[in-house]
Amino acid sequence: MKIYELLNKATCVLSKKNKNKKISYKESEIILLSIINKSRDYLYRNFKNNVNKKIVIKFLKKIRKRVNGYPLQYLTGYEIFYGRKFHIYRGVFIPRSDSETLIEALKKIKFNAPIKCIDIGSGSGCLGITAALETTPNMDVTFIDINKNAIKNTRKNLRLYNLKAQIIYQSFFKYILKNKQKFDIAICNPPYISYKKFKKLQKEVKFEPKNALLAEKDGYDFYIKLATSGEKFLKPKGYLIIEAGDNMAKNIKKIFSIKWNHLFSVKDYINKERALVFQLRF
Ligand SMILES: C[S@@+](CC[C@H](N)C(=O)[O-])C[C@H]1O[C@@H](n2cnc3c(N)ncnc32)[C@H](O)[C@@H]1O
Repeated sequence: MKIYELLNKATCVLSKKNKNKKISYKESEIILLSIINKSRDYLYRNFKNNVNKKIVIKFLKKIRKRVNGYPLQYLTGYEIFYGRKFHIYRGVFIPRSDSETLIEALKKIKFNAPIKCIDIGSGSGCLGITAALETTPNMDVTFIDINKNAIKNTRKNLRLYNLKAQIIYQSFFKYILKNKQKFDIAICNPPYISYKKFKKLQKEVKFEPKNALLAEKDGYDFYIKLATSGEKFLKPKGYLIIEAGDNMAKNIKKIFSIKWNHLFSVKDYINKERALVFQLRF
């Protein structure tokens, strides 16, 4: 089968599901490129060439998975975050463009280097790594996650960007009970989906790990725990940059008002408060 025939076939299969031929073609192309590990230019130059049978089988298997809602990023093994490529392992939260607002928020804060930062619930490591690459070269980032795959994934991405860091495989709330290490800044995209909302989410999301998405107390549990324990992990007047779930910003600000000042927020592309910046009051 020739490259163009294979792509047309995959587009046909995929567009039966999402009804959008353009998106289906793009996705087919992305999946094929991730298998053959070549440039788009190569694809176009070799459009009429035959594809190796093993590749055809591998490709169509992935297309079938995609039809069943399996996330594109798990099929290709990567996602772009803040303009950079990040490896994404199966069973690890897939970075969302909304979370790029946390990096925008971080860049608005003026620091006197060196800075000690912690990425709480690091997943692929996209937040902490981008923080280190986009800010002062003296930013020392620690990564923590409760998911073993996430820890492996963070390690892989740190290697990709030639960065060294402390990586902790533990629940953050257990870690702060014993550890005396304090940070200047914490960055966090917590689990914030309520069990009620989870049932209504699209099929694709359900392939991601539940403990990266779901939180008790109507989705507010992680916020409450962070708000009440700030002085255990931050230096006096330390900053926390945290992502807010849809329409949760107002309640989150109320939760944090006990010990923190809300400094500012960064809105996402649909004008919702997405990144909230708090500072410990003492
Ligand atoms: C929404 S994901 C965010 C991942 C990544 N920071 C990002 O923005 O792509 C939340 C992450 O928190 C981790 N997590 C959940 N509960 C945790 C806990 N108690 N301690 C540490 N990490 C936790 C999950 O495993 C998951 O990787």
